[in-house]
Amino acid sequence: MDRVLGGGIVAGSAVLIGGDPGIGKSTLLLQILQNMAGRGLDVLYVTGEESSGQIGMRGKRIGALARKLLVLVEISLESIMQRISEVKPAAVVIDSIQTLYCSLLSSAPGSVGQVRECSERLILQAKKSGIPVFLIGHVTKDGSIAGPKVLEHMVDTVLYFEGDTGHAYRILRSIKNRFGPANEIGVFEMRDTGLQEVSSPSEFFLSERPKGAAGSAVSASLEGTRPVLIEIQALASPTNLGMPRRTVIGADASRVSLLVAVLEKICGLKLGNHDIFVNVAGGVRVSEPAVDLGVVSAVVSSYRNRPIISDTVVFGEVGLTGEIRGIGRTEDRIREAARMGFSRCILPKTSIRMDSPPAGMELDRISHIRELQAKLF
Ligand code: TYD
Ligand code: MG
Repeated sequence: MDRVLGGGIVAGSAVLIGGDPGIGKSTLLLQILQNMAGRGLDVLYVTGEESSGQIGMRGKRIGALARKLLVLVEISLESIMQRISEVKPAAVVIDSIQTLYCSLLSSAPGSVGQVRECSERLILQAKKSGIPVFLIGHVTKDGSIAGPKVLEHMVDTVLYFEGDTGHAYRILRSIKNRFGPANEIGVFEMRDTGLQEVSSPSEFFLSERPKGAAGSAVSASLEGTRPVLIEIQALASPTNLGMPRRTVIGADASRVSLLVAVLEKICGLKLGNHDIFVNVAGGVRVSEPAVDLGVVSAVVSSYRNRPIISDTVVFGEVGLTGEIRGIGRTEDRIREAARMGFSRCILPKTSIRMDSPPAGMELDRISHIRELQAKLF
């Protein structure tokens, strides 16, 4: 959490935390407040969603029962602001911004006007008093935090809590942060005693990787300030459909189409009569061009039905003419690969020379996509 916030909680800051219902937002914030209360700070958890009894039960389960952790069940903005100025807590959590009601407006809680007005006043109070405020927001179907998108402009930091309720992992990602790098991620595991930090995301994302399977490639993506190894899976299967399917989960679909076109045109792969599915395992979403080469490798591996030589990590940007372009932070990616026990990296020739690669790490540099297949198998 400290890392995602850019080092910790900044006095007077306003942080918006969005996510699907049931993903664990209330649990996360309750645990954070518990940690602060455990250090002797008064903290205030305001809820308009659950009763104090419900909060108490959850608190018991995750060990958030510190005396200094105060719970206020309230939806009236005026009363909440009054209590904040009386208690002067070290931090306030509002769960959720959609339940608040300001008597100046006649519209219902959760309406755009109410959400905007309540947020504005809470943020102003935070700035004036120096008391940081966390606003929890539900995410609508289209993915934007319900109510106005303007909420994102009003706060200092926007975090999204993502994950699949069917899986135990949860990813907290900073979308915007005035106090630190955006796109930083925190990885957590939901246990029956609450959320637990996952300190080595690479290990976590690679934990279920099938060894020696065709269609699986490992790439190194920069998530915030950290390089993280991820597994990219592809399935290329022959189809009779006139329009073969291209389905992508966890990566940019148009970028994958582009890479498939490059493979067809430059490497002569007959992908036009194949459905292609690409999935980034573990529910991570990658957006960096550095994983291009990983996507391409997974697709080629599935198409040829040959597993990639084991213990290989592949990264680099692929251009439209098939050239492999250099990427940033190459050395950090190589080090992460070495740390995770990989022994070879296939990477762009143009990336800066590494003076002393980690022991036992072989660096295979390529400048064009045509050179890739000979290195993969
Ligand atoms: P919650 O924090 O209520 O989600 P949100 O506030 O985002 O709606 O988390 C709800 C889910 O988390 C619920 O399905 C049960 C699960 N959970 C655990 O698995 N372990 C726990 O210790 C807790 C408190 C919740
Ligand atoms: Mg909740």
